[in-house]
Amino acid sequence: MNSARRAFAKALAAIDVVIEVTDARLPEASSNPMIEELRHFRNRPCLKLLNKADLADPEATRAWMAHYNVQPGALAVAISAKHPVDVGRIPVLARQLAPHRSGAEKPLRMILAGIPNVGKSTLMNALLKRRVAKVGDEPAVTKSQQTLDLGPGMTLTDTPGLMWPKIEHDADGYMLAASHAIGRNAVVDEEVAVNLGMILLVRYPAFIEARYGTGTSSLDGEGLLEHIAHRRGCVRKGGGFDLEKAANVFLTDYRTGTLGRISLETPESRQKMLALEGGR
Ligand code: G4P
Repeated sequence: MNSARRAFAKALAAIDVVIEVTDARLPEASSNPMIEELRHFRNRPCLKLLNKADLADPEATRAWMAHYNVQPGALAVAISAKHPVDVGRIPVLARQLAPHRSGAEKPLRMILAGIPNVGKSTLMNALLKRRVAKVGDEPAVTKSQQTLDLGPGMTLTDTPGLMWPKIEHDADGYMLAASHAIGRNAVVDEEVAVNLGMILLVRYPAFIEARYGTGTSSLDGEGLLEHIAHRRGCVRKGGGFDLEKAANVFLTDYRTGTLGRISLETPESRQKMLALEGGR
């Protein structure tokens, strides 16, 4: 982690704009505090991309943009790296943050950063309109730093996935695992699914009922998982529910957007969580 931090800090010396990619469904939980810290230290503006906006709740995304857009040196936009029109706006927005950089003599130098699985490779490929980075749903496939020409007067440096050394809040860990930023082995799917259930039952009960049947919104996280196991025939050979299998069904429904457009946190819920935990 320290070497990733050093490499990022060093690269920032020759960078005009930081492009931070987060997951629009959990923008704070999926941001690396180190990026904010170091870009403030170097006094660099930041284009905050709330990616996967196609999967997020539009209302929550609007609230997040309003939240970020009053922060100094920050410009937040919601995008889907899979939508060429969204990606096409990025160079123009980055230029707005460093208008003094233009032309071949003074190219606009950008760095792309973010935790694993937020869509950096997808974005990089879309920006370059060719495949240069391996896209995958397993964390940390981008291994080394590379600088690429992004057309006349623009360069983009890619960084390896930056994960913080310690996840400060359990709630963040669960949200990240549900959204697949943390690898499969790091946490137990069943526990992650129960936590996801608890959030969705409070915030999106109608989506739960629409997918899993009337009355399910009155269950708790564990009850919901058992219900899914029952409904989908997830049973163990020797009898009893296969809750791990049910967890996979539920997590896949969330990750693919089958349940609906869902955000796991809002500026308000984040503030409440921090007030309860007395943190960050
Ligand atoms: P990373 O470099 O930050 O680690 O992330 P990467 O681009 O590998 O993307 C991780 C997963 O997120 C990929 O899914 C990718 O397709 C998906 N993704 C990236 N941007 C978006 C977006 O804006 N919207 C949606 N819905 N998904 C996005 P995958 O399942 O591995 O691949 P694929 O089968 O979807 O191609």
